[in-house]
Amino acid sequence: MNDLAGKHIVLGLTGGIACYKAAELCRALIKGGATVQVVMTAAAQQFITPVTMQALSNRPVFESQWDAREPNNMAHINLSREADAILIAPCSADFMAKLLHGRGDDLLSLLCLARPLDQVPLLLAPAMNREMWAHPATQRNVTQLRADGATVFEVGSGDQACGESGDGRMLEAQELLDDVIAFFQPKLLSGEQVLITAGPTYEAIDPVRGITNLSSGKMGFALARAAQEAGAVVTLVAGPVHLPTPRGVRRIDVTSAQSMFDVTVQHAQGASIFVATAAVADWRVAKLAEHKIKKETGAAAPSLVFVENPDILAAVAQSPRGRSGALYCVGFAAESQDLLANAQAKRLRKGVPLLVGNIGPATFGQDDNALLLVDEHGATEMKRDAKLALSRRLVAEIAARLQRKEE
Ligand code: CTP
Repeated sequence: MNDLAGKHIVLGLTGGIACYKAAELCRALIKGGATVQVVMTAAAQQFITPVTMQALSNRPVFESQWDAREPNNMAHINLSREADAILIAPCSADFMAKLLHGRGDDLLSLLCLARPLDQVPLLLAPAMNREMWAHPATQRNVTQLRADGATVFEVGSGDQACGESGDGRMLEAQELLDDVIAFFQPKLLSGEQVLITAGPTYEAIDPVRGITNLSSGKMGFALARAAQEAGAVVTLVAGPVHLPTPRGVRRIDVTSAQSMFDVTVQHAQGASIFVATAAVADWRVAKLAEHKIKKETGAAAPSLVFVENPDILAAVAQSPRGRSGALYCVGFAAESQDLLANAQAKRLRKGVPLLVGNIGPATFGQDDNALLLVDEHGATEMKRDAKLALSRRLVAEIAARLQRKEE
């Protein structure tokens, strides 16, 4: 993934043990396609050397406002003008206090102060002891820095280098990378509450057996991430899958179609967009065996009787909120042939404004997919691409349709 291609990031390190994570973060940003210019305070250099950061970023590190390498001797101006963002990770409590007061007695604080406010965003990844983080002065500073336009990332929780445990750890490099990537995505769904179903369902036959399908959940999880990146509040109702929860997404795990139905119908009340990507089992066995069905020698194989599961998408789309358009419903169709005809028929049958067709066997478990969007105006093809890339485009398509509805 080259999500940060073309972005130039000034990565500022201030004093804190989390500096060791900044080395990993620098690598992750570069792997993501960014170029990285590291600036370190004197305190940061007590924890990690400029040599390490130079080797990782492939650029000399800046440490001082008196750096004679700059022909005009104005490193604070030059570095801040060429950045697409300034990311301070770790950002110490002291450095936040400094930023808050607009001080500039070292290169890093100086370039934060000198940055063109409307062009160069300031991203802060706090890192400190839990008492320092919880201190009213720090919390006051966080609030004020946000009000001044800075983006202050969350802190992690858990064991701290000091031996205590609580809030205040710097996020891990991968988490910060995801947050930085999300920061640069357009906020097309800001203010929206998005509800997504994903993955397969599992219909038990007895306590040890059941019926499921090959859905991996990757498309729904990618869509949840894309919607979250676009500024929505996202709830993901997930069948049994082995995927990490996208950052900032609320995940509710379910197993059977009935449990997915119950949770989804309940959360649809507060949602403004519903996307059903789940491969819901159409049937469940009529009578769940209380104990394992045993194989008796010479006995005939057991026969199973099925009953139909509720159709989650159809039920939500036909609810008062779905019918009134207060809840914009999007269906998926996993087909094995005749994608266009099947998708068009399914859109009408489910009563949804937008249906996304894909060829199930070609996408289940894969990291990429190809989509066919079908609405009342016709069909739009999205060529094979990574599921996250397709999800971001689908988010834009949904946002454009919502926008048109409002006009
Ligand atoms: N869906 C659902 N609840 C069900 C079955 C399907 O919410 N009980 C949703 C899926 O999440 C998807 C859409 O309906 O968004 C279409 O699912 P699909 O399995 O392709 O269609 P079916 O309705 O099951 O029709 P068929 O099996 O005949 O293709």
